[in-house]
Amino acid sequence: MRLRPLVLSSLTAALVAAFFFAVPLRRRGPPPPSFYSFLRLSSDPMAGRSFILWLHGLGDSGPANEPIRTFFSSPEFKLSKWSFPSAPLSSVSCNYGAVMPSWFDIYEIPVTSESPKNESDVLKAVQNVHAMIDKEVDNGVNPENIFVCGFSQGGALTLASVLLYPKTLGGGAVFSGWVPFNSSIIGRISPEAKKTPILWSHGMADRTVLFEAGQAGPPFLEQAGMSCEFKAYPNVGHSITTEELLNLQSWIKARLKSSS
Ligand SMILES: *[C@@H]1O[C@H](CO)[C@@H](O)[C@H](O)[C@H]1NC(C)=O
Ligand SMILES: *[C@@H]1O[C@H](CO)[C@@H](O)[C@H](O)[C@H]1NC(C)=O
Repeated sequence: MRLRPLVLSSLTAALVAAFFFAVPLRRRGPPPPSFYSFLRLSSDPMAGRSFILWLHGLGDSGPANEPIRTFFSSPEFKLSKWSFPSAPLSSVSCNYGAVMPSWFDIYEIPVTSESPKNESDVLKAVQNVHAMIDKEVDNGVNPENIFVCGFSQGGALTLASVLLYPKTLGGGAVFSGWVPFNSSIIGRISPEAKKTPILWSHGMADRTVLFEAGQAGPPFLEQAGMSCEFKAYPNVGHSITTEELLNLQSWIKARLKSSS
């Protein structure tokens, strides 16, 4: 029993010491602005950093898609941080309610431009993606060096996420995706978001998300006043080819900013 007060008092002493140590540091204040800006100019560790977020398709997982980054061998990608999140497990209507990794509900396969949509479910998923982007922006990454890319359901979520993000991003790349809401969303796209470039790639032999659903993308974006580069791939089904990934590499490379 005699040990206890001893332990307590040494803990108190440590706290007191920490307090006195902290006070003089705080009183010293920040360094003069000229010194500080010199430091930032010469060694901003975030300058040229980029962030690439990859959103997988229905029933897939983030880790299973990580090999995608091996296609990005250009030196410009040395400073890139990649993220391959996995969708939460949820019940999917088109799969008779089966529970699987899914960003939002899908009602029918194949997905067409007329397929029913649940906007509030998509918007919930968009909030999660925005939280991932915000984390990087808070860490000092220039939003114009942030690229969101996704396949199929992840492509639809990519589109929704970049359109509803309040800032201009580096770009959004949609592979075999679709527009997951109707044109009433256009009023919610900020002038900054409208400047985000979109790359849209779709296989012409896609029987899961019909080519026709992809083709509805560019007119929708045009209606919103946005630019979109649409690439149609003959004889490609519901998949991503090496050619598409190499094209994505050049597309991102052309948009990377070397300083923030
Ligand atoms: C649409 O999504 C919301 C939010 O996830 C959900 O509460 C609602 O039941 C869904 N509506 C339909 C018709 O499935
Ligand atoms: C578009 O979506 C909004 C929001 O979900 C809905 O209120 C509206 O009725 C839809 N319009 C059409 C034409 O489907």
